[in-house]
Amino acid sequence: MIGSALIVGAGGQLGRGLVQSAPAGATVMALSRTELDITDETAVATAVRGLRPAVVFNAAAYTQVDAAEQDPLGAARVNALGVRYLARACARSGARLVHVSTDYVFDGAGNVPYAADAVPQPINVYGATKLEGEVAVREELGERGLVCRTSWLYAGDGHNFLTRMLTLMRERPALNIVVDQIGVPTTVDSLAEVLWRLAGEELAGIHHWCGSGIASWYDFAVAIAEEGAARGMIGSKPRLRPIGSAEYPTPAQRPRYSVLDKRVTENVLGIESPHWRDGLRAVLDRHASGAAS
Ligand SMILES: NC(=O)c1ccc[n+]([C@@H]2O[C@H](COP(=O)([O-])OP(=O)(O)OC[C@H]3O[C@@H](n4cnc5c(N)ncnc54)[C@H](OP(=O)(O)O)[C@@H]3O)[C@@H](O)[C@H]2O)c1
Repeated sequence: MIGSALIVGAGGQLGRGLVQSAPAGATVMALSRTELDITDETAVATAVRGLRPAVVFNAAAYTQVDAAEQDPLGAARVNALGVRYLARACARSGARLVHVSTDYVFDGAGNVPYAADAVPQPINVYGATKLEGEVAVREELGERGLVCRTSWLYAGDGHNFLTRMLTLMRERPALNIVVDQIGVPTTVDSLAEVLWRLAGEELAGIHHWCGSGIASWYDFAVAIAEEGAARGMIGSKPRLRPIGSAEYPTPAQRPRYSVLDKRVTENVLGIESPHWRDGLRAVLDRHASGAAS
C-alpha cells in the first residue's frame, strides 16, 4: 500500500502517465514545473515537509539532449542539483524517492545489454548531468533511494519520437532515419506501472526498465509507418531510408548501443516487459480510439 505520493514534473509525458496510472487507494499530489520548480531548494523543502508524502516520484528533468550541449549549467541545475534538493528533502522528511534516469548514462560502446551495475560513462552533457543526479540520490538517501533508468520513452501525445514521426510522415513522402543507434523503445504506460510497483514494494537501488527486444531508430520508424498506416493515422506509407549517424550530425553525440538489461527488475516484480512493437501497437490503439495515452 503506497499511501500518499507526490509527483513532481507532473506536466511532462511521464508525469502525466504516473498520474493516470496511480493505483487505487493512493493519494496523489501532482505538481508541474509552474507549481514546484525543483531547482528552488526552499520551495522543494517546504512542499515535501508540508505535503508529507510517503513517496516522491521525480518525473522532472531537463530532457533536451541537444540543447544541453550549449546549456550544461541549465541541464545540471535540473538533472543534478534539483534532484539533490528533492533527495535531501526526502531524507529529512522520511519519504522514499523514486527517481528516473536514462540509458544515456552509458557510452554505448558495448554490444550486450547494460546491467544495472555496469559502469556508466556518459558521452554527452545530458547523460553526464543525469548521472550526477543518480549520484545525488545515492549520497543523500543511501540505500533508501531508488533510481530507475529507462530508454527511448514515448506516449501517444507529448514530444517524443512517435509523435514527431507521425507528424513528419503526414507531411513528407520520404524520410531519412538513423540506423546505427540501437536501443529499446519504452512506453510511458509500461514505465509508469513499473514505477508504481517498485514504490509499492519499497525497493531501492538502481533498476532498469524498457521494452523487450531491440531496435534502431530506423526499425522504430518502420514500425510506426506500418502500424500508423494500418490504423489510418497517416496517408500512404512514406519511403524510409536508413542513414548513418554521420549523415545526421547533431550537437550531442548519442550512444551507439544503449540497451538496458532489465531482467533483475522483471524477476523481482514477477512481470515480463512487453515487446516494444506490442507496446507501440497498444499506444497507437489507444491514440487512434481517441483516448489520451
Ligand atoms: N524521453 C526519453 O526518451 C527519455 C529516455 C530515457 C530517460 N528519460 C527520463 O525520463 C524522465 C521523464 O522524461 P519525460 O520524457 O517525461 O520528459 P518531459 O516530457 O520533457 O518532461 C519533463 C518535465 O520536467 C519538467 N521540468 C523541467 N525542469 C523542471 C524544474 N526545474 N522543476 C520542475 N519541473 C521541471 C518539464 O517542464 P517544462 O515542460 O515546463 O519544461 C517537463 O514537464 C526524465 O528523468 C528523463 O531524463 C526520458
